[in-house]
Amino acid sequence: MVRPVIAGNWKMNKTVAEAIDFASRLRNALAAPPEPEVIIAPPFTALHTVAELLRGSPVCLAAQNLHESEKGAFTGEISGEMIREAGCAYVIIGHSERRTLFGEGDERIHRKLRTALSAGLKPILCIGETLQEREEGRMQNVVERQLKEGLNNLTAGDISRVLVAYEPVWAIGTGRTATPAQAEEVHRLIREWIAGRYGSEQAAEISILYGGSVTPKNIVDLMRQPDINGALVGGASLDVASFVQLVGYQTI
Ligand code: 13P
Repeated sequence: MVRPVIAGNWKMNKTVAEAIDFASRLRNALAAPPEPEVIIAPPFTALHTVAELLRGSPVCLAAQNLHESEKGAFTGEISGEMIREAGCAYVIIGHSERRTLFGEGDERIHRKLRTALSAGLKPILCIGETLQEREEGRMQNVVERQLKEGLNNLTAGDISRVLVAYEPVWAIGTGRTATPAQAEEVHRLIREWIAGRYGSEQAAEISILYGGSVTPKNIVDLMRQPDINGALVGGASLDVASFVQLVGYQTI
């Protein structure tokens, strides 16, 4: 059984003061260790402070991006080592907003993933098709290409530290969630692809998260699907009460 994961991607939201407020409330609300692995991904500026605040709590931290180089003259960029030292265990890689708004392609995403692994971080690789790609019947091609390029030539040890997030672009921030059946179809396809490439044991153990307009209203049905191991939540993760509900989805 894969332990469920509930992850909140704050994107470009919350100042340090707001992040402190959120983290303190979350810490209090999760006094008893929750069943799922709980991850929050604040902006870079708040990572270290939030890490200190959540030390000893069950909440893990993720960064939202990293640069593919270890260090050097890359003004404005952040390295894997910096992220890990700031207190993160995870890093989100290849989010569709990075792909579309910042021109990140599969090859660069793969380099970021390798850098994350060598920095001792667990990458959360985001993949997913656009509405046009889905309507043109290219969903499977796109998802498999993103997996193939993103996870190119990893060892069994590497793949066991990777999480995959299926985030259909048409469902992100639109209020239009994939139906549980639509999401399950793609999650199964992802697991089968992993099984074909890395073996059935790795496929059974990898966490595949769904992202795209997840809320306390739809999470239960999504999480009932056999191949959905967790959720990567944007908007509904920004409010503590709603995030705590998502973490406790088993009791909704
Ligand atoms: P929303 O939950 O706001 O649709 O965002 C999903 C997402 O992009 C998480 O990474």
